[in-house]
Amino acid sequence: MEHGAVRGIAFDLYGTLIDVNGVQEACGTVAQDPAAFTSLWRQKQLEYTFLRGLMGRYEDFWQVTEASLRYTLKRFSLQATERDRRRLMEAWLHLPPFPDVMATLPKLQGYALAVLSNGSPPMLEGVLANSGLTPSFRWVLSADAAKIYKPSPKVYALGPEGMGLPKEAILFVSSNAFDVAGAKAFGFPVCWLNRAGVPLDELGLEPDMMVRSFGELLPALER
Ligand code: 2OP
Repeated sequence: MEHGAVRGIAFDLYGTLIDVNGVQEACGTVAQDPAAFTSLWRQKQLEYTFLRGLMGRYEDFWQVTEASLRYTLKRFSLQATERDRRRLMEAWLHLPPFPDVMATLPKLQGYALAVLSNGSPPMLEGVLANSGLTPSFRWVLSADAAKIYKPSPKVYALGPEGMGLPKEAILFVSSNAFDVAGAKAFGFPVCWLNRAGVPLDELGLEPDMMVRSFGELLPALER
């Protein structure tokens, strides 16, 4: 990365800033295997965003999260009361930030910081407020403004438009490999926060840098 080229940083939210595994605790009350339940729910949530994007049948991330919950309950043959469903959905508004995020964000305040996420505006507002992250970001940009989901270039275009910076000056950071590919295809410089230590998807699109933890971001930027 050319030193000084980066003036803004746009962060993916779920899995990057915020730990989605927080949903698993809430799933423990309805599922015998909360890890398997949460994993299928998250998989279906993202799958539905891809399918709805390709079909041109947009529904917001709250609705897609509800639909993928309905599927997952059926797949595990679980009955859930209305109260259970509401509690499972609300878990998405009360997810914890990763510890390394809280420790590092204050050191990044010299950059213009944004969230750029599939989450619907109320979901993003809620989870950022509840995790204490709101003051760290000058912009909170939701795919809802584009009425389509990542990895559509229309979603990433919300970054330069909203931040008033050329895409070449905005580093995009995500833990989700599909998001890394989409952001790179759009033209951002990209940092893959490879928390899980998994291989990159075979899409012919490589990030400009890869770190294993959020704390490595600052030294990587200043290299
Ligand atoms: C996000 O947009 C991809 O779910 C991820 O926050």
